[in-house]
Amino acid sequence: MSIERKIQVVTGGTSGMGLGTAKALGTFGPVLIGGRNQKRLENALEELKAAGIEAYGKTCDVSDKASLQEFAEYAVGIAPIGSVVNAAGVDYGAVPRDALLKINMQGTHYVLETFLPYLDNSNVVNYSSVTGYFYQPKKEELELWMNPDAEDFLEKVSALIPEPKDPRMTVLGPDYMAYAASKRFVMFYTMANTKRVGSKNNSRIISIAPGSFMTPMLVNQGVENEAVAEGMKRGTAFYRLGESEEMADLIQHLLSPGHEYLTGCDIIMDGGRTALGMYPQFE
Ligand SMILES: NC(=O)c1ccc[n+]([C@@H]2O[C@H](COP(=O)([O-])OP(=O)(O)OC[C@H]3O[C@@H](n4cnc5c(N)ncnc54)[C@H](OP(=O)(O)O)[C@@H]3O)[C@@H](O)[C@H]2O)c1
Repeated sequence: MSIERKIQVVTGGTSGMGLGTAKALGTFGPVLIGGRNQKRLENALEELKAAGIEAYGKTCDVSDKASLQEFAEYAVGIAPIGSVVNAAGVDYGAVPRDALLKINMQGTHYVLETFLPYLDNSNVVNYSSVTGYFYQPKKEELELWMNPDAEDFLEKVSALIPEPKDPRMTVLGPDYMAYAASKRFVMFYTMANTKRVGSKNNSRIISIAPGSFMTPMLVNQGVENEAVAEGMKRGTAFYRLGESEEMADLIQHLLSPGHEYLTGCDIIMDGGRTALGMYPQFE
């Protein structure tokens, strides 16, 4: 059975790139979206249904195992799992550091653990971030990251995150490095689960690293301020931000039949931001 007519599950599918992804994956079959806020969920469902998609919604919190179990059972009650896209995530400055690490790191782990038994020639996509490429985990961190269920995981992870050395990072606030670490974890965790996921009848797992995309998360970062937007645009090759629909198109393409050998990797879509940040450019 191919991806068609199976259910496409999107956590964080109530806003921004998650909602865009849910819309794009609706071409394959029914879609289930989840998020914590009931009102946001209802609005997103309405938008998906208005686009002609067979859409379902259920509140869920990716940092809560019990809520995810109910969410997964609801999903498989509709149809076998085609894809699980974990777009749920929070930004630096938006929530306390502990909540950020819990949602972005343990949340990614909980989503996979909950859906793993139901995967059968299915796809898993995690949203990382290009920010993760600017974080180099130490050996002790990688060892810790291998067991996200360990006691005091969050405290230990938090204690190993260094202060930023680059003043451009310092101005982004005290939790910027925690966000970068959490997104590096998403890449690590995705790759470290390649074999496990593959054993579920050739299921695939990838992560997607967005640069700066125009979503409510970016609005929280102050993108409506011209100087902030200017800085983000200048970091790309095209002097513009990405749109949720562009990201959704990429994911739909990568999950469609014909890409069965693509697994265990992080795919960057950032208008060239990582290249410009890491390498000198030929004029
Ligand atoms: N926008 C960018 O430029 C950018 C760049 C790099 C990476 N990313 C990553 O891309 C992903 C999507 O970002 P976005 O910009 O589309 O963000 P967004 O518009 O703020 O949407 C975030 C979504 O995640 C949900 N969410 C947050 N915490 C959750 C939790 N504990 N459980 C379940 N759902 C939760 C939110 O709904 P509720 O609040 O109702 O739960 C919302 O639906 C995130 O992982 C983000 O870190 C974004």
